[in-house]
Amino acid sequence: MWQLLPPAALLLLVSADTRAADLSKAVVLLDPQWNQVLKNDRVTLKCQGDYPVEDNSTKWWHNGTLISSQTSSYFIADAKVEDSGEYKCQTGLSALSDPVKLEVHASWLLLQVTQRVVNVGKPIHLKCHSWKKTTVAKVQYFQNGRGKKYFHQNSDFYIPEAKLEHSGSYFCRGIIGTKNESSESVQIIVQGLGNLQTVSSFYPPWHQITFCLVMGLLFAVDTGLYFSVQRHLRNSEEWRNGKVTWSKGP
Ligand SMILES: *[C@@H]1O[C@H](CO)[C@@H](O)[C@H](O)[C@H]1NC(C)=O
Ligand SMILES: *[C@@H]1O[C@H](CO)[C@@H](O)[C@H](O)[C@H]1NC(C)=O
Ligand SMILES: *[C@@H]1O[C@H](CO)[C@@H](O)[C@H](O)[C@H]1NC(C)=O
Repeated sequence: MWQLLPPAALLLLVSADTRAADLSKAVVLLDPQWNQVLKNDRVTLKCQGDYPVEDNSTKWWHNGTLISSQTSSYFIADAKVEDSGEYKCQTGLSALSDPVKLEVHASWLLLQVTQRVVNVGKPIHLKCHSWKKTTVAKVQYFQNGRGKKYFHQNSDFYIPEAKLEHSGSYFCRGIIGTKNESSESVQIIVQGLGNLQTVSSFYPPWHQITFCLVMGLLFAVDTGLYFSVQRHLRNSEEWRNGKVTWSKGP
């Protein structure tokens, strides 16, 4: 009975563990996709998760506080600066989502970027967004203070394949009415193999060290087993061959 217990307990632990892992995390999606918006913009936050048949309600948190909305989409029809912060959601059959950050700015122009950290080879999409979509003329995109792209009418700036030299500080500028307006600057980091190597020289690659230690341990145990089995085999062979030698003790 006692010998049966540990495997049974282990089995229970494993099944409890897989049940917890079965609940995948809910995901908060933004529509439109931008994490940075301007005052008065319309934003929809969508919660993606599994629902039980009898319960279609969604829980939403803003800055860690449960908010009253229970629908799968949370509409912000007229964004205010206080709508900034972290949003999380959860459905009946999902684990709490990771937070999604929303920044509501109050200015004439905002440079919107899909991602601030981009892997080499991936696209970069920049938008020079104006307050209430006011017409902007002579739009110019800058990287590290140097003009990169000029549009007579406001257009998005696409970099199809990011290279390391696309890292830097970006902003956009244009004419609204008679005024010359600029956005705040946004830092974009393009990371590739080179960047990753610098990062790992600052932070020890613990997963790699652990991997090497585990492999080393396995090798040591394996080698030990090999020699012990071999010794065992040799001993039993000597037995079979009747080659047992007796030596007289003192
Ligand atoms: C859940 O479904 C019912 C019936 O279809 C609907 O009336 C209700 O508004 C829904 N609730 C939510 C939070 O979506
Ligand atoms: C949520 O947090 C953000 C940033 O920390 C802040 O700007 C915003 O006013 C907060 N909003 C509420 C309703 O707590
Ligand atoms: C906007 O202002 C900057 C200096 O602040 C100037 O260099 C630039 O020419 C102006 N742009 C236009 C289109 O007038």
